[in-house]
Amino acid sequence: MKIRFIIPVIILATTNCLAQKSAPKIDPYNYSIEKRVTGRNGAVVTAHPLASKVGIAILKKGGNAIDAAIATQLALAVVYPGAGNIGGGGFLVARLANGKNINIDFREKAPGKSYRDMYLDSTGAANVLLSQNGHLAAGVPGTVAGLFAAHKHARLPFKDLIQPAIELADKGFVITASEAGSLNSARPYFKKTNTVVPVFVKNDNWKAGDTLIQKDLAKTLMRIRDKGKKGFYEGETANLIVKEMARGKGIISLADLKNYDAKFREPVVFNYKGYVILTMALPSSGGILLPQMMKMVEDKPLREYGFQTLRSVQLMAEVERRAYADRAKFLGDPDFYKVPVKTLISAAYIKERMKDYDSTKAGTSKEINGGIIPESEETTHLSIFDKDGNAVAVTTTLNGGYGSGTVVGGAGFLLNNEMDDFSVKPGVPNMYGAVGGDANAVVPGKRMLSSMTPTIVLKNNKPFLVVGTPGGTTITTSVFQSLINVLEFDMSASDAVNKPKFHHQWLPDTIYIESDFPSGLAAELKKLGYKITNYGRIGRTELIKIVDGTFDAVADKRGDDHAEGY
Ligand code: GLY
Repeated sequence: MKIRFIIPVIILATTNCLAQKSAPKIDPYNYSIEKRVTGRNGAVVTAHPLASKVGIAILKKGGNAIDAAIATQLALAVVYPGAGNIGGGGFLVARLANGKNINIDFREKAPGKSYRDMYLDSTGAANVLLSQNGHLAAGVPGTVAGLFAAHKHARLPFKDLIQPAIELADKGFVITASEAGSLNSARPYFKKTNTVVPVFVKNDNWKAGDTLIQKDLAKTLMRIRDKGKKGFYEGETANLIVKEMARGKGIISLADLKNYDAKFREPVVFNYKGYVILTMALPSSGGILLPQMMKMVEDKPLREYGFQTLRSVQLMAEVERRAYADRAKFLGDPDFYKVPVKTLISAAYIKERMKDYDSTKAGTSKEINGGIIPESEETTHLSIFDKDGNAVAVTTTLNGGYGSGTVVGGAGFLLNNEMDDFSVKPGVPNMYGAVGGDANAVVPGKRMLSSMTPTIVLKNNKPFLVVGTPGGTTITTSVFQSLINVLEFDMSASDAVNKPKFHHQWLPDTIYIESDFPSGLAAELKKLGYKITNYGRIGRTELIKIVDGTFDAVADKRGDDHAEGY
């Protein structure tokens, strides 16, 4: 796809001190989408071409994969307002060239004034409108703290990494057709959830080629550039957030912001048939579910069953069902709830879980009312690899598309609606149909359970795959299937990402399938007793496969996702 516009072209300098090494100029008014790139020096795959280009410019300037990840995430906060963010949170998983594994948790936290039943009405019924829309849905944002924590492993000054995002916000960039459509459909939501009309709402419809300029966001980014983490969590930005809360009955306070800290977690590392898989620890449920699912299939002849045969899909769906049942029962923020992590991923437990597996019929989950998974691209993932062998996988989120919908007046960024990822009431599904209980109940200062699963696979102790995706509860199953596609079915990076995916999450008791999932296979699964539910598309996976230092970087066909490399 090419986007061309007859308007004066302003060339965006990638940083304000590019003298040391030359970096390519980025033209935000004229860019195209590339789905695949190969090379040896560096690859960046993200949900937006301009963000991928910013990442590569930073690598060419002498930054490493961590520098590129920071700059890319900040650029996404500008060019991909639906999910890129500074008002949300996420996780970073990295394998550094020196062999060090890193997990950074910058998940949002429940505000100090939150409490367990805050989303229940006087009759005790859950009001998910409040946990999903507007001011009260927002958790204390973690992204900016996470990027500063990551910066410890970077090479370039932070101000160089944020400058491309400032320029994109200040001077604007042209939007694609899908961005225009997305902003137009979100207009009623923005009108409901804002006290000050945000820049995303205009009188007429957005169309491809319009320029989106975000002056307030540029000023917020400049405060972060000039004052560091305090430029977000204290001073003017913090005051603007708290004033916004006051106007919309939200509860995030100055103390919540000042006290927010990202955490370095013990990385989750496990083996699968000689590969070493590195993924994110709790409060990402991926750190439990991915090892569980991989270990449940490890002793089965998946390769012999073949890709998307009745045997392989039935087995994987049953494995997904069991892992998601455990998610609902056991998982939450380990700082607040004792999660039996070791047991859940132990060989004995996993063997026991598969004891009742029957390949001849559909298993069953308990009945539940409601719980329909909406189609959403709420979250966003970036995969980066550099010439020195550093690999970084970052997944961040606002939760739903455009998060809470609330843009902080005068500060220009969207707040998340991550409070809905808590279990607002035992058994009441969140917006992805996932249920939970005590382990994931709201407690002040607690982090809500996530599905985000940024993952790196090592082969012979070197990065082999860098992968991740958005998609709510479908994230972990998409990562699981992308890994199995490569490790068992020997697929190319492109096929591993783009072949149809499916998803089972215990409750609701159904297999969700993408629109291009083979219809004959769906019919066979129905015959075995499965309920099948059509689901537009699952995930937007960004995957880099590296063999002997040469990478094959693939951006998902399902969106504007873009692979850049050299
Ligand atoms: N908000 C989606 C997730 O964290 O899983």
